[in-house]
Amino acid sequence: MTGFAARLRKATMSEHRDAETRSFIARLMGGTVPAAGFAALTAQYLIIYRELEAAALAMRDNPVAGEFADPALSRVAALESDLAHLHGPGWEAHAVPVEATRRYAERLREHCHTSPAHFVAHHYVRYLGDLSGGQLVGRRVAATYHLGTRGTAFYHFEQIADPKAYKTVYRARLDALDLPAAELDTLVAETQLAFTLNAAVFQELGTAYPEELAPAA
Ligand code: HEM
Repeated sequence: MTGFAARLRKATMSEHRDAETRSFIARLMGGTVPAAGFAALTAQYLIIYRELEAAALAMRDNPVAGEFADPALSRVAALESDLAHLHGPGWEAHAVPVEATRRYAERLREHCHTSPAHFVAHHYVRYLGDLSGGQLVGRRVAATYHLGTRGTAFYHFEQIADPKAYKTVYRARLDALDLPAAELDTLVAETQLAFTLNAAVFQELGTAYPEELAPAA
């Protein structure tokens, strides 16, 4: 990997390491997030993906961003079914954004419908992450909360049989991005901001749902 995809990966390496090792997501991997915290994360994702996928729809015919806006990635229906399973009827009442999610959604709404650089940045951070570490997180939460695919549909891309192959094609698209250098710089900066916005959501959830102590033996 030598092109723009490699540049993006390198530019966000330390943010990525933080997410893997320090955040609420790391605790999710360790099995110490209470079930209500997992449900709250799913609700935050619904709010975020509604914005991201509204932007994808708006960008569908854009010559640069349109290539990324693949409906096979869509997560909103899966998140709605997960929440319906986790909360039962009336689940919509739980789809309430925490402050960091509100800020993240606002950023998506304000920039990703019109700027291909901003859209691709946010698209990359979420979907390539979902197709990577997200696959490990999905297996882990299914085990922790004794869930089948119901409750964890978000982590399964039914229309993408081979995530690894999909990511290879995706990176080739990043390498071929037809944007001026200044826009590519904007994209890199926005990718870093996208990681920060995600980290803020994890931080807020981590405080709201402190570690669940293992029951005494
Ligand atoms: C426990 C948490 C996580 C683990 C174990 C993890 C693991 C990984 C792994 C192994 C890869 C490399 C996959 C490959 O090269 O094919 C990857 C890539 C990636 N992850 Fe994560 N990840 C985690 C959390 C996150 C989070 C929270 C985000 C963003 C919000 C994220 C975003 C990304 C992105 C954008 C890539 C693509 C990097 C690239 O190749 O350009 N990850 N992750």
